Amino acid sequence: MQTTKLGKFKFFLFLSLFTLIASQDKSVSLEYDTYIKFHWKGALTSHSITIKTFPNLAQLKKDGLHALLFLYKFTDSTQIKVIESYTLTFGDDEANPVAETQLSSLDSNIKYYYAYVFSRDAAFSAETFMNIHQNAKEFHFKTLDIALKPMNFSFGAASCVDTGSSSPVFTNLTNEKLNFFLHMGDLHYENIDTDNVTRFYDGYYSVFNSSTQKEFFQSTPIFYIWDDHDFGEDNSQGTSPSRPAAHTTFKNFVPYGPLKGYLPEDDSSIFPDKAPSADKVNSVYTKSYTSDDPYGIFRSFLVGRCLFIMMDLRSFKDVLPKDILGNEQKVWLENQFKYASVNSQVRFVFLVSPIFWIDTNDEGEWKDYHDTQTKIATWADTYVYKKGRQIMVLSGDTHAMAFDDGRNNYFGGFPVLQAAPLDSFPICAGGPYSHGVYVDRGQYSVINVQDNGSSEVCVHIQLKQYGTTLIEYDTCNPSLYPGTEGVYCPKYIVGDSPEYGWVSLIILGVIAGIVAICLLIWYCSRRYKDKKADEKAERLIEMTQSLENRDILNNSR
Ligand SMILES: [Fe+2]
Repeated sequence: MQTTKLGKFKFFLFLSLFTLIASQDKSVSLEYDTYIKFHWKGALTSHSITIKTFPNLAQLKKDGLHALLFLYKFTDSTQIKVIESYTLTFGDDEANPVAETQLSSLDSNIKYYYAYVFSRDAAFSAETFMNIHQNAKEFHFKTLDIALKPMNFSFGAASCVDTGSSSPVFTNLTNEKLNFFLHMGDLHYENIDTDNVTRFYDGYYSVFNSSTQKEFFQSTPIFYIWDDHDFGEDNSQGTSPSRPAAHTTFKNFVPYGPLKGYLPEDDSSIFPDKAPSADKVNSVYTKSYTSDDPYGIFRSFLVGRCLFIMMDLRSFKDVLPKDILGNEQKVWLENQFKYASVNSQVRFVFLVSPIFWIDTNDEGEWKDYHDTQTKIATWADTYVYKKGRQIMVLSGDTHAMAFDDGRNNYFGGFPVLQAAPLDSFPICAGGPYSHGVYVDRGQYSVINVQDNGSSEVCVHIQLKQYGTTLIEYDTCNPSLYPGTEGVYCPKYIVGDSPEYGWVSLIILGVIAGIVAICLLIWYCSRRYKDKKADEKAERLIEMTQSLENRDILNNSR
């Protein structure tokens, strides 16, 4: 007991001295918000994560401080063990400084914590940090379980955010405590149509400057793929002049895993005694396609026994006539399906299509590429369904939230989840959807994967608006959520976007014009009838008077 009291006394003495010294000469600081503008993390695996940190470099230089990142675990409710410390190096680009920190050799399925320290001495000791960590701003993440082994997890997916939005929906997302989040595009609406990296940097900084987005992205690992408005102009293509700048800034700003990988990485080389090894040499894979094309951010990764395939539907769209994937991505995509087919440990495929998938009215951008949709449907049938696996498409793009259990998906018949907009003007296209359509702001999905090791992985989806569930479905219990034949988008949903404001003004103008013409016709016909009635009455009066005059004349005779 005495030792504990003495220990506490020593600790508070140390803390007081530390605070006193730090406040006097700024040799050490824990003021995260003074020295760091923003950080986010991605490329999460069972053993690693990438953190990108954006400093207030001028302030760090002014105060002569180094930025350090300490990674630690809790050994009990108060005690921590420092795993590693990293001195951050902020690259060569003075205008847009960023430090990339790869945390590796981590244990699987463990919650890790980290905090930033700013010190005049780059060799700040772990022991000193352990004594002061309570005063530091603390962040965390949880590593995934070993790839290709059963794992329960939850993740979010959504798209479409007005530039710099501070919507409370990001606070809802922070509170979901997701393992990770799939951002399916339109991170901002800068619609940059030139090869201008400065404008792309400004787009990213607008996200950092939003308090609610900053809080969310600092809390949750991210997997981000772009759509049209954050790649180029509206409905942008691979021919957009913005393509080089979009790629340069993505690689600088975004924490991402291996791009364009031949097949997803398993964990057999990391945990050789524990991790299943996937077959990567099977003759069904196409290996002949080689490319040194620097463009494209398509990629795939494993979470438990789920394979995530993220398509890049912008970088190659219409680079070749009537083509959306490009030759390299086409071969790559079929290889990912073949991987699911060959490796029995893969039980569920999530295919990310930033452009909305179900579109019987041909209102969206897939309409010009139905051949590709048909090809993907064939691959899904051959390599997924016929092998006893399942697949679901996750999509964004149109600003509506919906779910279809597959009955209206004429390209593959698999379930389709549509999750947008996080915070942008509500507008709806595509469908129909068996489980309803919601057209409003503040919308996102939470997907809960339950895997008990049997042949079937259960996927429970919730489509939410500001934290309230509006649509629900469970692949293992579909009878609980029967749905209907199909709900279409409500037509002419218009929001507060200037472009759609003009549409609504034109529609209202036309309606007002028709009403005015009808009123004019009605008024003229009334006037004409009144005039005729008056004339008739006048004639009657004249006739009556003439008859009366004749009677008076006759009587007087
Ligand atoms: Fe959008």
